[in-house]
Amino acid sequence: MQIRKYKDSDFEKVRQICFETARGKQFQTNKELVCTLFCDYYLTYEKDNCFIISAENDEAVGYVFCAENFDDYINKYFEVYFSKVKSLSKKEAFIKRCEKIFYRKIAKTYPAHLHIDILEEYRGKGNGKGLIRKLLDSLKSKVVKGIYLTVDTQNQKAIKFYYKLGFKKLRSIFGKALIMCKKI
Ligand SMILES: CC(C)(COP(=O)(O)OP(=O)(O)OC[C@H]1O[C@@H](n2cnc3c(N)ncnc32)[C@H](O)[C@@H]1OP(=O)(O)O)[C@@H](O)C(=O)NCCC(=O)NCCS
Repeated sequence: MQIRKYKDSDFEKVRQICFETARGKQFQTNKELVCTLFCDYYLTYEKDNCFIISAENDEAVGYVFCAENFDDYINKYFEVYFSKVKSLSKKEAFIKRCEKIFYRKIAKTYPAHLHIDILEEYRGKGNGKGLIRKLLDSLKSKVVKGIYLTVDTQNQKAIKFYYKLGFKKLRSIFGKALIMCKKI
């Protein structure tokens, strides 16, 4: 296993992992929606903040990526991707509009946010920890002061993982999701 920078040739595999690991019924049949919401922005505009865990054949089996600065992210996201989200799901477009307002305050202290996903057979082997460390080291060298993430309350495995890596609970969203954060 190897942790390395993202390459353009990883694009389709990363999108597939994003789709396969997405939770929630609304996402299970709509790969375009999942990838437009959780993946394409980062692979296009924040390549430097995307890291891959790859198997022996160099094929991606997991990733971590982040947006370094919330304001830059949200402005670009609305400029490039929002109309596509709206055409795919009115509900997700509404949620995205709420996020724009909701996360702005959090992002003053924690400007970056991350997504991490690993294919099932490569979990529980230290790969997630390695990916998060790589990302945090990289952000530290760019003097990014903090990072947050949002996790489904039912995803207790991931919540335990984040606590183990020093993330703290910041806020609950109607008991359905948890915002966790870490100073860098
Ligand atoms: C969450 C995820 C990224 C964690 O990666 P991982 O490779 O399985 O985790 P690691 O093996 O690196 O574990 C790192 C540490 O967290 C701990 N940990 C991981 N899962 C845990 C669990 N379910 N319960 C308790 N501790 C756990 C490990 O024991 C390890 O501790 P150590 O440093 O003392 O050895 C991975 O399981 C995953 O992709 N899950 C599915 C997708 C997902 O939920 N993504 C997050 C969405 S917000």
